[in-house]
Amino acid sequence: MNAKQTPFLSRLDAVAAETEALLDRLLAATPIDGETSRPARLIEAMRYASLGGGKRFRPFLVVESAALFNVPRQSALMTGAALECVHCYSLVHDDLPAMDNDALRRGQPTAHKKFDEATAILAGDGLLTLAFDILSRPQTHSDAAVRIELVTALARAAGLGGMVGGQMLDLAAEGRFAGTGPQRLGETDVRTLQAMKTGALLRFACQAGGILASATRSQREALERYGSAVGQAFQIADDLLDLEGDPTLVGKSTGKDAAAGKATMVGVLGVSSAKARLNRLVAEAEQALAPFGPAAAILIEGAKFVADRHA
Ligand code: IPE
Ligand code: IPE
Ligand code: MG
Ligand code: MG
Ligand code: MG
Repeated sequence: MNAKQTPFLSRLDAVAAETEALLDRLLAATPIDGETSRPARLIEAMRYASLGGGKRFRPFLVVESAALFNVPRQSALMTGAALECVHCYSLVHDDLPAMDNDALRRGQPTAHKKFDEATAILAGDGLLTLAFDILSRPQTHSDAAVRIELVTALARAAGLGGMVGGQMLDLAAEGRFAGTGPQRLGETDVRTLQAMKTGALLRFACQAGGILASATRSQREALERYGSAVGQAFQIADDLLDLEGDPTLVGKSTGKDAAAGKATMVGVLGVSSAKARLNRLVAEAEQALAPFGPAAAILIEGAKFVADRHA
């Protein structure tokens, strides 16, 4: 697929291709049991928002954390697809005029530009709901108790006290609400905001492997420590890309965060300290995986990929 293919990139590509095929099937035009119809414009917008782009790094984390325990790949891919639905919905809503007001995503017009705002909002709603439909299916795991655990963990990561809550803090920091002004958040508050808006879903991705495997408490804790470090690193890298990235590689508008008054770790620490923090987080991620030995090498590569990425 690309000239500088490394073993890590081929494993990322493999998960991306399998996730794409699975989402393509899950987002077919034909209604399934219990549904009445799938309106053409809505399914088109949901497919637009979720197919044909994205690094699929969250499904990669689910698949590779599950692989530590030899969980059947099908279970991990279903869980990864559910998580990717939540992620894609979060991007559609994040790009809306009422939020970050962005016109470009994954190198294409954002969903509300391609369709319209109402369709984009509903496509996001549809993807969020579909995620929990996917998790509740027996193909995701034969044990209903495990499926409930996945549902609970994803709901907590995605909602009020996770991604959605973090998005609220992000907009509040910009001073976007009537009667408020920009907040000058310190490092601790930015860390909390980022752990919620971005970290929570990435942490869930790593947690999911342990849930699918009914892993021990200490194994789960190790994966959660890894996921938290990767989550923090991911948003710092995203903030750096907004400042220094090449928009043609990044596939979204850059140079907007500072202008919008976004609270970012780069804003708080400065570029060179943010980069140093990124390296520290990669080391932290690596240390967290020590109990898994060489089997976790691919996840360590994943943490490095997050820090070094150009897109
Ligand atoms: C972008 O996520 C939004 C953030 C949480 C920073 P990704 O960088 O994973 O976006 P895609 O899925 O690869 O497009
Ligand atoms: C996004 O953060 C976090 C989400 C929950 C979508 P950003 O607003 O920085 O993400 P990009 O840069 O638009 O992808
Ligand atoms: Mg945003
Ligand atoms: Mg944004
Ligand atoms: Mg960003």
